[in-house]
Amino acid sequence: MPVSRRSLLRNCASFPVYALVAELARAAPRTQAVPARRWLSLQSELARALAGGKISPADWHQQVNELSKDVDLESLAHELRRARIKDAGAPFGHDPQKRFVTILGEDDAPVRLGYGLALFDFGPESVITPHAHRYMASAHMVIDGRVRVRTFDRVKDEENFLILRPTQDTLAEPGHSAAMTSSTDNVHWFAPRSSRAMTIDVIIDGLDRGKDRYLIEPVDPLRGSQLSDGTIRAPLISFERSMELYRASS
Ligand SMILES: [Fe+2]
Repeated sequence: MPVSRRSLLRNCASFPVYALVAELARAAPRTQAVPARRWLSLQSELARALAGGKISPADWHQQVNELSKDVDLESLAHELRRARIKDAGAPFGHDPQKRFVTILGEDDAPVRLGYGLALFDFGPESVITPHAHRYMASAHMVIDGRVRVRTFDRVKDEENFLILRPTQDTLAEPGHSAAMTSSTDNVHWFAPRSSRAMTIDVIIDGLDRGKDRYLIEPVDPLRGSQLSDGTIRAPLISFERSMELYRASS
C-alpha cells in the first residue's frame, strides 16, 4: 500500500531530512499536502544541512524544489497572515516590493528558522532582472499569479562577462519553486505574467566563510553572444543599466 506523503512526514521525524525528501519524491500517490509549519521546519533542516556542508548545493537545490511541489498553499497563506511582515524599503526601479517575513509560533513569539524568508510582490510592471549570485543560495516559490521564470547555469567567469547555459524558461504557477545555488541555476530572472503575482523566497547567505554574506551581479543574457556549444557570453552590467534594459515584458 502506498505511503501517503503526509504520514511519511509525520512518522519519520528523526530520519535525515535530505534522505526524507528523496524518499518523498518516490512515494506515490501524492494525495496529502505538506502543512506550512512542516514545510518551514523541513526548510530549516535543509538550510542547516547546506550551511554545515552535509549536503551539496546540487542536492539542496533539487530537494528544496521537490519539497515545495506539495506544500499546502492555504496553510502557508494562514501562516503569512499571522506573520510579522516588514517592508524592505522602497523598490529600486521596477523591482517588486520586497517584504521581510518573521514567522510567529503558537505563543506569538518569533520562530528562529535559520534562513531568511521574504515576499516579493509584483505589479504588472515589476520585474526581477537577470542576475547572478555569490556566497548564497535561494529558492523563489510562486504563491500567487503566474511568473515567467528563466534560469541559467553559470558555466564560467570571464573578466566583465559570464558564460551562461540556459536551463529553464517556464510559466510558473503557485507551488513552483525555482532554486539557485553556486552550482545550478545561479542566474535567475522573474517577470509576472498576470496582473498581480507573488513569490516567497527562502534565502541562505554567508555560505562562504571569510567572504561577504552575498553578492548580486546583474547580467545581460539578451545581448550576449551565442556560442557554438549553446552557451551565452553575457556582459556583467550595473544595476542601473539592468533597470534600463529589462522590463516586465522583456
Ligand atoms: Fe536572486
